Amino acid sequence: MRIAIIGAGKVGIALGHVLKKKGFDVVAVASRRQSSLDTAKAYIGADCLFTLDNRQAVETADVVAVTTQDREIKNVAAQVAAAPERLDGKLFFHTSGAHASSELFPLAIVGASLGSLHPLQTFPDIDAGIRVLPDTYIFIEGDDKALPVLGEIASAIGAEAVVIGSENKVLYHLSAVFVCNLLASLLYAGEGIMKRIDIDLKPFYPIIRATLANIETRGPLLSLTGPVVRGDAGTVSSHIDAIGDMPLHERVYKDLSLVALEMAQQRGTLTDEQIAALKGILEQG
Ligand SMILES: NC(=O)c1ccc[n+]([C@@H]2O[C@H](COP(=O)([O-])OP(=O)(O)OC[C@H]3O[C@@H](n4cnc5c(N)ncnc54)[C@H](OP(=O)(O)O)[C@@H]3O)[C@@H](O)[C@H]2O)c1
Repeated sequence: MRIAIIGAGKVGIALGHVLKKKGFDVVAVASRRQSSLDTAKAYIGADCLFTLDNRQAVETADVVAVTTQDREIKNVAAQVAAAPERLDGKLFFHTSGAHASSELFPLAIVGASLGSLHPLQTFPDIDAGIRVLPDTYIFIEGDDKALPVLGEIASAIGAEAVVIGSENKVLYHLSAVFVCNLLASLLYAGEGIMKRIDIDLKPFYPIIRATLANIETRGPLLSLTGPVVRGDAGTVSSHIDAIGDMPLHERVYKDLSLVALEMAQQRGTLTDEQIAALKGILEQG
């Protein structure tokens, strides 16, 4: 199969590089800026068409990966579908986690088959993406023609291909935002508190790593430690007092501690009095 990539960004270039390494025939890369194409060439090799014209890339390929930002997928689909030629026999997929393949709908009207292929991974830059892809679960959805092809690509480049229903993509992506993106936000917020006493994240990495390792073996529920699950209401109060001048941090602390309280209740670690005391503190204000 001849593969083209539209969108020479982090995911597009990392995907192109890994596909090439796995023996796939990457025939074209299209993007808006020449500088992005130059970067793509450095990772994918020169024996491929690099073009600023998306339709030219489509002409050369059987399978087209649309790896633009989410907001651009619809525009690319509309632009490519507006060409006079039909696209029977071609397969288009995008790599968005939140959107279903229907985002590419105009292409189906002119005969293409549609899918989405989302590596459940974080790509802060191209090299990091290339490193993590082989260990990554890849979620695919699409029409009957697309699924087997996407399954073949996903199994070749990642750890495992998992089929997901179109209707579940938003909740699937939201889950990823909770456990990945917002985890980074949480650590950033923690770092903000550390800055007040002139310490940095470095000494905290071992505890962060140990927590993640515990979660992987026991799950989040049984990995929770700390003042809420112990019923130490006085400690929780002192924390809230200490960040009285940081309203956003206070809100996050209280809301996540309420989640921790729900976990403690599920584990049956607290008496009714302890639960009531903690709720009183955490639901205040
Ligand atoms: N980053 C992640 O952690 C991650 C993980 C999994 C999935 N994804 C998904 O992968 C997709 C790409 O994300 P990304 O992080 O790689 O984004 P990105 O680094 O911003 O790259 C997107 C690229 O698309 C190109 N582009 C935009 N509009 C275009 C158009 N109309 N025609 C041709 N090229 C166009 C841009 O090219 P120019 O530079 O030439 O302007 C840009 O380099 C998104 O759907 C995202 O949700 C991202």
